[in-house]
Amino acid sequence: MAGRIPPEFIDALLARTDIVHLINSRVPLRKAGKEYQACCPFHDEKTPSFTVSPEKQFYHCFGCGAHGSAIGFLMEYERQEFHEAVEELAQQAGMEIPAAGEMVRAGPDPRPLYDLLDQAARLYRCQLRRHPAAPRAVDYLKGRGLTGEIAAAFGLGFAPPGWDFLLGTLGDSTQVRERLLQGGLVIEQDGKRYDRFRDRIMFPIRDRRGRVIGFGGRVLGDEKPKYLNSPETPVFHKGRELYGLYEAQQANRRLERLLVVEGYLDVIALAQFGITYAVATLGTATSAEHLQLLLRAAPELVFCFDGDRAGRAAAWKALETALPLATGRQQIGFLFLPEGDDPDTLIRRQGRAEFEQHLGTALPLSDFLFDRLTDQVDMSSLDGRARLATLAKPLLDKVPAGVFRDMLGTRLAELVGVARNRLDTGAGAGRRRAGPPELHRRLSREWLAVALVLQHPRLAARLPEPDDWKTLDKPGLRLLSRLLERIAADPEITTGQLVHYLDDSLDEDDRRYLNRLTDPALLAGIPEDGREADLLGAVAALNAEARDAESERLCRRTSLSDLDDEEKQRLREYLSAARRDGA
Ligand code: UTP
Ligand code: MN
Repeated sequence: MAGRIPPEFIDALLARTDIVHLINSRVPLRKAGKEYQACCPFHDEKTPSFTVSPEKQFYHCFGCGAHGSAIGFLMEYERQEFHEAVEELAQQAGMEIPAAGEMVRAGPDPRPLYDLLDQAARLYRCQLRRHPAAPRAVDYLKGRGLTGEIAAAFGLGFAPPGWDFLLGTLGDSTQVRERLLQGGLVIEQDGKRYDRFRDRIMFPIRDRRGRVIGFGGRVLGDEKPKYLNSPETPVFHKGRELYGLYEAQQANRRLERLLVVEGYLDVIALAQFGITYAVATLGTATSAEHLQLLLRAAPELVFCFDGDRAGRAAAWKALETALPLATGRQQIGFLFLPEGDDPDTLIRRQGRAEFEQHLGTALPLSDFLFDRLTDQVDMSSLDGRARLATLAKPLLDKVPAGVFRDMLGTRLAELVGVARNRLDTGAGAGRRRAGPPELHRRLSREWLAVALVLQHPRLAARLPEPDDWKTLDKPGLRLLSRLLERIAADPEITTGQLVHYLDDSLDEDDRRYLNRLTDPALLAGIPEDGREADLLGAVAALNAEARDAESERLCRRTSLSDLDDEEKQRLREYLSAARRDGA
């Protein structure tokens, strides 16, 4: 596994990369004023709203909201991991990714293991046609309603009965026998080795590049365990992989939606009926890593659960995992199936159209959250509603600060029946004209300032002293300070570079939130020529807030005589400044 890439390197890399050139080689761009345009590669459109700014080194689609740096573009467009994108750009820029101290050295070459797993998958596939015992397996699949075509599309195979099919066929050297063990295809017990998968239907599990990394194997009857899965190996990590994601991405040029189901056969049955966007976790709960992967792969996610108690519990777990990733940019829905059904049985009974109609009734994450919580309290009593607030608070706290969390907060307030005392954002700024949706109004002052500085680094130079706001203890302001320092050190820095500058010191949540703040749509409600005023206004209001807090602190001392001269002087200044600000 590759290690962390030093942020200075990312910064230098982006400074050497031209995003226009990079994107133009994949999506031909047309010059339009200072920027470049094309029809968006991330959604269907007839008139171009995909814009690339050479100045910001940033792309943005006014249609679907996709946006990011050169690295972000490769991640979205080529579906690359962060590392892969950096590697590709480094190669183009003729730069070598430095081996920093904390960089973990790559492990042994995994390619032979991938090759071996691929050979195993081929062998299993052949056996489904050739092995004397195969007709039972074929009959089983037919009995489950699978066509030969779909079985081939998912590469289904058959592990014949017996202890040493793979060992005997492939294990002609000690090295390969070790590798079979390492790849989880062979197990060792009491010094003896034998095939892990015997007399089972084999489902190859592929990673997003299509490489076979493991298998699931199902018995043909009612024996236990019903499914046997590959163990964790150097190339297979259950918590990170999703069955069917590769196939879904192959079947769809652009995934609009992903459906998360439980079983291998659910994924396959759905695909057979034209729902080619289902994936399954591999017999584990949905992990945060799964969710990140899913949210990156499609703008809408629907979890499909059984309608029984276990299904509802699993759904709640998934919701808790999803909260820290919920920014509202993607839709997350929850669908509960009728009891006794799974997607496999349902799609066969209902067919595609009805099933998809069903999908349309999935509960949005926020509804699921509040429905479940209100079920647990007596909403007709004041106490019950207060309890709702108590139950909801820790959950809402998990959601990254931002528009979506604010919306949840408002909804909670409505339910609890308390008007929420909302800060007017961007106070002191000029009057706003009607125009595009005023998303920026939902940002608090400090985050508005961060968004403005991120998207317009040049404006930072306009900020006057004093910077009393620095005494306020708010996460947004700590970030603002760091951004301003960075811009002061390099006034030519671009938005594209700034996004990645903080990468290293931020946790996942902050990073995602920061990325959201770079979305030009967020500021679309502020005319270009009003942005400087808004930034100055927000900072002035923050300064006033800081002075208020400080004078309040000084006033709270038992009496003025406790203050020394300097403090008295400061208090007088604050008070008169506060009067000037009209606060
Ligand atoms: P289910 O028991 O719900 O089975 O397991 P299913 O998918 O409906 O299977 P069929 O229709 O009887 O063939 C759901 C998933 O849980 C994992 C598998 O990934 C399975 O697809 N599982 C289940 C196991 O890993 N081991 C088991 O023994 C059972
Ligand atoms: Mn089933």
